[in-house]
Amino acid sequence: MKKIAILTSGGDASTMNKCLSTFITYASKYNCEVVFVKNGYKGIYDNEFVKPDYTETKSWWSLPGTKIYSSRFPEILDEQVRKQMVDNLHKNSIDTLVVIGGDGSYKGARLLSKSGIKVIGLPGTIDNDIASTSYSIGFDTSLNAIVNSIKEIKSCMDSHANVAMIEIMGRHCIDLTVFAGIATEADIIITPESFYTPQQLLAKINEKRKTNSRGIIILYVELLLGTENIPTVEEYIKYIQANSKELVKKNILGYLQRGGNPTAMDMIRASLMTEHALKMISENQYNKIIGVDEFKVVSYDLETAINMKNPSRKDLIDKFFN
Ligand code: F6P
Repeated sequence: MKKIAILTSGGDASTMNKCLSTFITYASKYNCEVVFVKNGYKGIYDNEFVKPDYTETKSWWSLPGTKIYSSRFPEILDEQVRKQMVDNLHKNSIDTLVVIGGDGSYKGARLLSKSGIKVIGLPGTIDNDIASTSYSIGFDTSLNAIVNSIKEIKSCMDSHANVAMIEIMGRHCIDLTVFAGIATEADIIITPESFYTPQQLLAKINEKRKTNSRGIIILYVELLLGTENIPTVEEYIKYIQANSKELVKKNILGYLQRGGNPTAMDMIRASLMTEHALKMISENQYNKIIGVDEFKVVSYDLETAINMKNPSRKDLIDKFFN
């Protein structure tokens, strides 16, 4: 039986708990024993390895956040700290370390793998900033929270014909901003790839006013406005209000974007990827990052489409229920 240690690292993402409950449910099928590491990488250093309670962990499947806690641990860059972490993993007889986190967490995993630790990564982050997966675990939940907030803000903007500037999380990844913009039919998005100066933004608003006489929604990705030589959001608002009749309202959704109840699709992707992680460990395949590949738009001839058969799902039944 292989002993695997699981940790959650970096910004918490809703649905990390679903990975934990899935690990507990299917570990024995793959001849694995699970221990949790509390507080992310810091917990390896502090020797916080805990034996999970099966029934309790099973009850976490629908809970947001991470019940084994997370941290950012830049100290992992220090060789002495890493040496202690490797010692602790050996002392606890860990065969494989599973890291649920984003790109920063993967860099930590790479450092430990260079010291001989076998690692598997699961993409747990709301940011969707991991190129090796179409969707990260937590992204869909966050996106839904953002879409719901925009819907509510839009109703207020419509009532007064105001403009909303809404800051969206994602660190340097624009996916939450772009996807939320598509879903809500936002009027303008500001990202490095679709950037407007205050003057250009006002021109764009004026253009939108030709067809939209009510609320205007502008989404902007965080960590862009107010950096380097780019004006702050307040400076944008000041310029627009001084040069037009528009009233502009600033909205920062903050952690409402991160703490929502997991969506069904997030939970399904989390379970699929977790089950796959266990399979890889059982097949001695290490130093892998798990992902899903499903972002594809297709078209078929009418006749072909009508004659196509739905997939049987037997593979899913075998994985999860047999
Ligand atoms: O990585 C997830 C995330 O929520 C980013 O979108 C955001 O930039 C960051 O974490 C905020 O981090 P913290 O909670 O450490 O301030």
